[in-house]
Amino acid sequence: MAEMLKKGAKVISKKGVNYLLGNDGKPQVFKPWLGDSFSFLYDCIMRKSIFPKKFGGNMGKHLDILCRELKDVHGKRVLELATGSGSAVNFLHTGNSYTGTDISPGLLTKAVNRFRSVGFDQAEFYVTDAECLPFEDASFDVCICILSLNFFDDLNKVLKEVKRVITTYSVFICAVPVPERNTLGSTIRGKIHSEEELMKIFSENGFTFERIPCENGSLLYFRAHKV
Ligand SMILES: C[S@@+](CC[C@H](N)C(=O)[O-])C[C@H]1O[C@@H](n2cnc3c(N)ncnc32)[C@H](O)[C@@H]1O
Repeated sequence: MAEMLKKGAKVISKKGVNYLLGNDGKPQVFKPWLGDSFSFLYDCIMRKSIFPKKFGGNMGKHLDILCRELKDVHGKRVLELATGSGSAVNFLHTGNSYTGTDISPGLLTKAVNRFRSVGFDQAEFYVTDAECLPFEDASFDVCICILSLNFFDDLNKVLKEVKRVITTYSVFICAVPVPERNTLGSTIRGKIHSEEELMKIFSENGFTFERIPCENGSLLYFRAHKV
């Protein structure tokens, strides 16, 4: 799968996590995200606190929705933006070729172990910012971004990159909290966009936008295609 890397990109690998080398020959590092220092606690915090108390939703239901949405995705080249600790093993068939990306080496290290433990043979992991992906054009058939769009500084940049690295027929599947579904009125970190704003941003960046009909607290699930 390393052929997906942009020509000239250089990486070093540590414990299954790939680090891009900068012009100075040193591994690129990104501004720390809260989850990195808490990576060993991440899954427990998501299930017991974030889902019920922040999203007013349920993690089991979340995984069921994504399982349903991705059930026919087999043998595809799948890119995930913001892999976190690798929860995609819960809803992605092991027969896909998976490329996970995140700015957090700590969470990616967890993801490596999780993918290995379920026998996901074709999986690679890169420490990289979703705003600047180190992959060649049209390298992926499916892109997913779960619970993370709100953490990106510049969503327009991310969408331009996604558009570049997916093929014409690819699908981009996202789950993200939106304010109009936040009936608990909880404070959710990051830049929170309404469904209407997301539709506008996606449309301005050359994507269709289709809501996946389901309810799970403040979460909106949707799929997008390149126009
Ligand atoms: C709430 S977690 C979601 C992780 C995973 N997708 C899940 O469903 O459990 C948000 C993730 O976004 C990652 N992240 C934040 N900013 C990022 C960026 N600019 N590029 C890539 N990943 C980023 C964090 O490191 C963290 O793993």
